[in-house]
Parts: sequence; structure tokens; C-alpha cells
Amino acid sequence: MTGNCAVILAAGEGTRMKSKRPKVLAQVLFKPLIDWVIDSAKACGLEEENICVVTGHGKEQLCAHLPQGVQTVEQTERLGTGHAVMQAREFLRRHGNANVLILGGDAPFMDGETVSYALEYHTRSGSAATVISADVADPTGYGRIVRDENGDFSAIVEEKDATDAQKQIREVNSGAYWFSAQALLITLDQLEQNAKYRLNAAKEYYLTDAMEILRSMGQRVSTFNSKSETVVLGANDRDQLASLNEIARLQVIRRHRLAGVSIPFDSGVVIAPDVRIGRDTEILQGTVLKGDTVIGEDAVIGPNTVLENCVVEDGASVVQTFGTDAHVCRNTQIGPFARLRPGTRIGENVRVGNFVEIKNSTVGNETKISHLSYIGDTDVGENVNVGSGCATVNFTGKEKFRTVIGDHAFIGCDTSLVAPVRVGARAYTGAGSTITEDVPDDALALGRARQVVKKDWVKVKKPYRK
Ligand code: UD1
Ligand code: CA
Repeated sequence: MTGNCAVILAAGEGTRMKSKRPKVLAQVLFKPLIDWVIDSAKACGLEEENICVVTGHGKEQLCAHLPQGVQTVEQTERLGTGHAVMQAREFLRRHGNANVLILGGDAPFMDGETVSYALEYHTRSGSAATVISADVADPTGYGRIVRDENGDFSAIVEEKDATDAQKQIREVNSGAYWFSAQALLITLDQLEQNAKYRLNAAKEYYLTDAMEILRSMGQRVSTFNSKSETVVLGANDRDQLASLNEIARLQVIRRHRLAGVSIPFDSGVVIAPDVRIGRDTEILQGTVLKGDTVIGEDAVIGPNTVLENCVVEDGASVVQTFGTDAHVCRNTQIGPFARLRPGTRIGENVRVGNFVEIKNSTVGNETKISHLSYIGDTDVGENVNVGSGCATVNFTGKEKFRTVIGDHAFIGCDTSLVAPVRVGARAYTGAGSTITEDVPDDALALGRARQVVKKDWVKVKKPYRK
């Protein structure tokens, strides 16, 4: 079946989040809800061009966030989930012969696997619509799946419209469905034209009424029961969002543990869903891994380390460190108390020690920058030794310039390298030097005042003694 597509409902305001941003931009494990949902659609083979997001509240912020290829339509008034889908009619017509996946933009745990299995079932059963349902401990607030005496699906009844008996039902509508696009288009017309569909308690166009319409036309409506209760979960306020974070946090930690990553204590460990970690790597307490971070095998990360969009290769250790957009090669040791800023690439077997900050720089293999230094906009060669307290002076107040340090160079303690400047291969700088001119290969550069010794100065001046 070609040309399947998805419509993601994301026009709601999420008033109780008390946020300036639309609800679907709220984050679970540092990833916006809408990104979780888009990834689920992609996981069942849909391309961005075949995904349409219904925007409304906070439309500009949401559109600015969405990937380029994703389509959008606007719902100017919030008249219900059925009305939201009506806004995507044009998009649906373009996919008239295919199936459409409807997803709530605020339900991050509706995963690609569930959605794919549901599609398989939908196609195999020849259904016009397939509702993804789940059995939950507390069904409050969800639409209930009502079945007839044979156990066959008969309708979805919203909480507000449910009888006391129906409220006891614990099988609920996840808000995710597969429809035949053609059948959906026909039901949307009926939903709009037939006034009886707006006599519900909310006076809204319920997408869930599409099921009744299809059945009255003699079409087949199925349910696909997800074994996981979490697929239905969403958040209305930040307290519920924190619960989603905790569920997701433990799920991700468990997944890594089962794949061979050692996480002996989970306290303070937060790993974003797209982070990859190799076998036998140890993740210690207080470690936060965000974005597209990739960690190799046999590495040690933490305790108390935050890495965002970083790569750490096999055997490296990163201790008590903050890193953003940085790359650390094999067997290198970083920290404790280091800061790696964007554009940094550190070679193999390097040591970056305490209170060292590195920004937009490359550092060659076997180099040591062990204590209290700032390296910015610099290319450091291999096997270099940078002494304690060195700084690259990369900023004039107006412009930034680069520094180059050749292989096997030795930068004496407390050297300032005023960029643009180049220290040659094997060259030395004397401790306390301010280097403003290039240093040739194999030279020693001294850029400091010669020491003056005034004999018996204290005896004569008696500066502070009685
Ligand atoms: C809906 C379902 C309910 C299901 C639940 C699962 C209906 C009538 N009910 O209820 O059976 O158990 O989801 O979470 O569909 N939205 C719009 N425009 C609107 C209204 C909603 O874009 O006019 C979006 C929201 O932003 C949200 C999604 O649709 O992302 C679901 O809307 P919501 O109001 O949360 O639906 P529920 O009442 O929870
Ligand atoms: Ca909801």
C-alpha cells in the first residue's frame, strides 16, 4: 500500500500547562511531545511530506519548530477533534486511496511499533477504521470502548457523555486510529452536515463519532488493543508532565541496562530517548545525556556529568563535566570539572583535567591539558603539554582569532597566547610568558620581564615590620 499518511492533532492550547508555548512543545526527556509523535509516524514508514500537523494555539512557535518537510494546516477555532481533522481535507484527498494514521500531538508514548502492528491488523481485517485502545487502571477522562454482547466493538463514548455503567469500562480510546482516507473523508462530511453529531455534552465535533457513522454505512470498524497502558498517556499540567518524564526515564534506563550498559544507580540519571550507548559503558549518578549524544563501549560517564549532542568514543572517561556539541576520541580522560563547548574535537589518549574549558578547538592525540586552562579557537597538535593556568587570548573585544600549537610543543605554566599566533612544533614557551608573535619550530620563547633582585631591600625599607 503506497501513499499512507498521518494527521497529527496539535491545535489545543493546554491551558493548564500555564505556558507561553503550545502544549505539544512541552518536553518529555528534553524532547518536545510533538517530536515523539512525529518519530512514531516515521517509525512506521511515513515520510515527512506525508505527515500533516493541525496547528492552532501557538501556531507560529509550533511551525518554527517543525521539520521542513512536515505539512501543516490551521484550525482557527477549537471545535473538537473531528473539526481538527476536517481542516486537513485537502491533504487527505491527496492520499485518497491510502490509509491515514490519526495521532494526538500530546500522547508521546504511542510508539512506532504499536502503530505499525495496528496498521497490519487494519489492512488484514479490511477495516475502514481501526481504533488503538488500551486497558488502564484509571480510565477517568478518556473515551470508553463500548462493546456489544458478543464483545465486538460498538462505539466510543466520551467521559462527559457516559452512563455510570459505561464509566466502569477500563478499555479506553488512545486517540490514535488508522482510517481508510476515503472513508474518513466521507464521515467528515456527515459529521459536519448532520446536526445530531453536535448534541454531545461538549457541543464539539467528535472524531470518535466517525466510528458510529462508518458502522451505520456497513463498514467494518476494529480495535487494536495495545498491551501497554502507557500508550494512552498525555499530560494536562506540569505535574502530570513530570510523571510522564519519570515513566520515560525509567523505561530508557531499563532499555540500556538490558542492552548491556551498566547503570548501577539510577538516581539523577536522565537519558534522552535518542541517545545511543555502547556495551559495558558505565553511567554514574547524576548524569544527564541529551539530544543526539552517542557514547561508545567501555566508557565511563559521570558522576554528575551533562552531555548534549556529544560523541564519546570507546574507553573514554568523562567525569563531572559539562559538554555541548563536542567529540571525545578513544581512551581520552576528561575531568573532573571540565567544560567542553561547541565545536570541540579531542583526540585519542588525551588528558583534559580539572577546571579546563575548551571551545571550538581541536586537540591532537596524546596531548595533556591537565589543569586550570582556557583553550578557545585553537588547533592543538599531538603530544603537546599545556601547563597549568594557560589561556588562549582569542578575543580582541571585537574579533576572534585562532591559535595554532604544533606537535610536541610545551606551553609553560601561565602562558597567554595572544591570537592570531602560532607556536611551532617542539617549541617551548617560558612560564608566565605573554606570547604575541609566532614561535618557530624548536625555539624557546620568553615573553616576560626579566627578574630583578634588590639586595637587602627589606632591611633598608622595613616596609611593614615594626
Ligand atoms: C480524545 C478522544 C478520547 C480519547 C482521548 C485520548 C475525542 C472526542 N475524544 O479526548 O476518546 O480517549 O482523546 O487522549 O476525540 N485537538 C485539536 N483541536 C481541537 C480539539 C483537540 O487539535 O479542536 C487536539 C489536541 O490539541 C490534542 C488532541 O487533539 O492534541 C486530543 O484532544 P483533547 O481535547 O485532549 O481530546 P480528549 O478530550 O482528551
Ligand atoms: Ca487529552
